[in-house]
Amino acid sequence: MSESTGPRPALDLEAFPPSFAWGTATSAYQIEGAVAEDGRAPSIWDTFSRVPGAIDNGDHGDTACDHYHRWPEDIALMKELGTDTYRLSVAWPRVVPGGDGPVNKAGLDFYDRLVDGLLDAGITPSVTLYHWDLPQALQDRGGWTVRETAEHLAAYTTAVAERLGDRVTRWATLNEPLCSGWIGHLEGRMAPGLTDLTAAVRASYHLLLGHGLATRALRAAVPGARIGLVTNHSTVASASDRPEDLAAAVRMDGHTNRWWLDPVHGRGFPADMRELYGVDLPERPGDLDLIAAPLDWHGLNYYFPVTVADDPEGPVPYAREVRVPDVPRSGMDWQIDAGGLEALLLRLTEDYGVRELYVTENGSAFPDTVGPDGAVHDPERTGYLEEHLAACARAVRKGVPLAGYYAWSLLDNFEWAYGYDKRFGLVHVDYATQRRTVKTSGRRYADIIRAHREATAG
Ligand code: FCB
Repeated sequence: MSESTGPRPALDLEAFPPSFAWGTATSAYQIEGAVAEDGRAPSIWDTFSRVPGAIDNGDHGDTACDHYHRWPEDIALMKELGTDTYRLSVAWPRVVPGGDGPVNKAGLDFYDRLVDGLLDAGITPSVTLYHWDLPQALQDRGGWTVRETAEHLAAYTTAVAERLGDRVTRWATLNEPLCSGWIGHLEGRMAPGLTDLTAAVRASYHLLLGHGLATRALRAAVPGARIGLVTNHSTVASASDRPEDLAAAVRMDGHTNRWWLDPVHGRGFPADMRELYGVDLPERPGDLDLIAAPLDWHGLNYYFPVTVADDPEGPVPYAREVRVPDVPRSGMDWQIDAGGLEALLLRLTEDYGVRELYVTENGSAFPDTVGPDGAVHDPERTGYLEEHLAACARAVRKGVPLAGYYAWSLLDNFEWAYGYDKRFGLVHVDYATQRRTVKTSGRRYADIIRAHREATAG
C-alpha cells in the first residue's frame, strides 16, 4: 500500500491494547451472490427483493459482489488492509436449505474453504450465524413468529459448529435482532415486510430465544468457543424538555435499547415496554434463563443517534424521530455523532457489566466514484472512521474493555432496502465489472492499523 494519506489529527492509538483486533465486516446475502448455486434455496431476502417497490432500483442480491466466486481476491484485499480479523456471516439457506432437515454439504464446503483461506492469510474469522437471511421455507411456516424457528436455528448452528468449530473460535449468534424484529415485522421496510405489532413482539421474543438456544448448541459443539451477540443501538435524546417528549425518549430507549439488552443481561423484558406493547409474550418456563445464558463478549453495531418527540397518534412506541438541523450527516442522511458510540460503550460496560466488547459494525455511506486518476477519494468516510476510533479510544481510557473494532464494510455491497446505491465499503466495487478499488479511507485504515502495531510493539 503505497499512497500516503498525509498528515492527520493524532489518534490516541496507545489507548488500545496490543492485542486489539482490527477487522472488517460483511454479511452473506449482501456480498455472496450465487443465490441458486450448490444447493442454496431462497431466503426471505430473495423473496422480499422481488416485491415491487421494496428495494430501491429493484435491486437484489443475485450477484451482489460475487464473493462466492471471488473470495480469494477479497481475502487478498483484507491482507492489503492489514486487518487481523474478518466478521462474516454464514447463509442458513446454503447450509440447511429447507430451514430444518437435511444439511447441504456443498453449502458447508464453501465456508470451509473460506475459513481455511482466512487462516492461511493470518486473519481470524468471526462467524455470525444469522444475519437476516431466513430460509423462505421457514417463513412459509410462520418464520420468527413461531417458536419452532428458534429451535431450527439451534439445529442449523450445530451443523455449522460441527464443521467449522475445529478452526473457528469467535462466534456470534444473531446480528441486530432489532432489525429483524422491528424493521422486518413492525415497520415493514425489511424482510419479511410485515407491519403487525403482535407478529413483531413474538418475533423479537423468538429471536432472543433462538440466540439462547444457539448459544447452548455452540457450547456443546465447540469447547472453548468465545460466544457473543451482536446488537445495534442508538443514543436517544429528547427533542425538548417538555415532559411528554422526555417520556417519549424513555419509550424509544426502551424500544431500541432496553428491550434487547435487558433480557440478555438477566433483567427480563422491561415491564414498561411489555405494558406499552400489550402483547402476551409466548413465554415458557426456563426461557429467560436460556436468553440470559452467560456470554463471552458483546458486539455493538453503532451508526447514528436519534432525537424524538412525543407522537401519541403515531406507531409504537409513540415517539417520532425529529430531524436535528445543522448537524453533519452521511449519505444515508443519518446524523453523524461519534459521541454516541462512546456513550453506548460506556453504558454497556457500566450499566450492563459487559466484560469484553467489540464494535462489530461502524461505518458510513457516501456516493463514491472512481476518479480520473483511478482512485476513490472519500475524505468524509475517512473523517467518520477517525472520529469514531477516537471515541473508542476515549471509551477505553475510561475503562471500557474494548477488544476490537470491525469497520462496516470491507466492500460496497447490497445495502438491503437501499440496494447498491449506498456504498459503505472501504473498498469500492464496480458492479458491472466486479473490479475492486481500495478507497482512500481503506488506505487510512491500513495506516492506522500499522501505526497501532508500531506504537504497542514490544
Ligand atoms: C446494519 C447491518 C448491516 C449493514 C449496515 C449498514 O444495520 O447489520 O448489514 O446494512 O447496517
